[in-house]
Amino acid sequence: MSEIKVPIAKPIIGDKEIENVVEVLKSGMIAQGPKVEEFEQKFAEWVGAEYGIAVNSGTAALHVALLACGIGEGDEVITTPFTFIASGNSIVYTGAKPVFADIDLKTYTLDPDSIEDQITENTVAIMPVQLYGQSADMDKINKIAEKYGLIVIEDAAQAHGAIYNGNKVGSIGDMSCFSFYPTKNMTTSEGGIITTDDADLAESAKMFRAHGASVRYHHNAIGYNFRMTDISAAIGLAQLEKIDEFNERRITNAEYLNEGLKDVDGIITPYCAHGSKHVYHQYTIRVEKGVRDNWVDIINNCGVGTGIHYPIPLYNQPIYKALGIEGNCPNAELAADNVISLPVHPSLTKEDLDLVIEAVKTASRELD
Ligand SMILES: Cc1ncc(COP(=O)(O)O)c(C=O)c1O
Repeated sequence: MSEIKVPIAKPIIGDKEIENVVEVLKSGMIAQGPKVEEFEQKFAEWVGAEYGIAVNSGTAALHVALLACGIGEGDEVITTPFTFIASGNSIVYTGAKPVFADIDLKTYTLDPDSIEDQITENTVAIMPVQLYGQSADMDKINKIAEKYGLIVIEDAAQAHGAIYNGNKVGSIGDMSCFSFYPTKNMTTSEGGIITTDDADLAESAKMFRAHGASVRYHHNAIGYNFRMTDISAAIGLAQLEKIDEFNERRITNAEYLNEGLKDVDGIITPYCAHGSKHVYHQYTIRVEKGVRDNWVDIINNCGVGTGIHYPIPLYNQPIYKALGIEGNCPNAELAADNVISLPVHPSLTKEDLDLVIEAVKTASRELD
């Protein structure tokens, strides 16, 4: 295989991040401290939520949010199978059962019209995943939640800065969860955060983050050590100053790719729903001819990195099958077989983007 000249992802760490980390290291306060608190306040303000509770991964954010909502054994949470396994696993960790509704094939997010069929007397929550940087149809999802008295927990791990009908992702559900893993639109190295407007849920999340204690050494629940460190928060504070610019560059890159790829035969380029701001965590195409692996080989041979997000609907993962967690989502299966993510990150040059376009055109020609 040829050398990959344009990688699928590239975190941008600048001087400010390094200065901030050095300052924390010199301060001696390297666990959860004042930088975490500052980061929580600033991130919550940026998304338009009252409270932010920082943790050490996006997975921990989802787990804590579910626990804070009182979800556990005997409960069912409706989510999408077309996502990273952390979305489903966080439900499994609590003892609850993930129940899968199908996706909308345009946005690849949870299809509101497929949710009601999955509701049973055990359903307590809906967890839409704001996939690839775009929100699910939250008005419809919130309406269903209201009708059946369900909690809404947004998995916003991939959608920092995305907007749905004028509201930023992170301020729409009862609780919202972000990841700051290095490939995400902004990073803290590993890290995550929960945002909410509900003071009680915020308190409860803080408790589960720190061994179930609201007052030190007084434990009211079995909690975890999911604390973020000030070292991570220091990186996050520097990234927060740049996230809007990072997102604008992703959007500009996506528009350039859309234009360059619009007449290419055999592919569907990303769809941005009306009233939505898509922040292109991923730029994901779907191929409609040939075999996906052949497209990937040709694109990689042209020096362009790719990702498959995601190749297997969660209910077909071996461990979910072993646990008897089932699903039947034809759209998710079709997407899983045919999507390819292409580089869209903020570091790309015009030459990089032209190489991506050429690579896809080459694959389309060769697979005729
Ligand atoms: C949709 C989704 N949910 C949850 C997670 C988990 O986040 P983390 O890797 O920070 O634990 C990720 C990120 O990998 C993700 O993409």
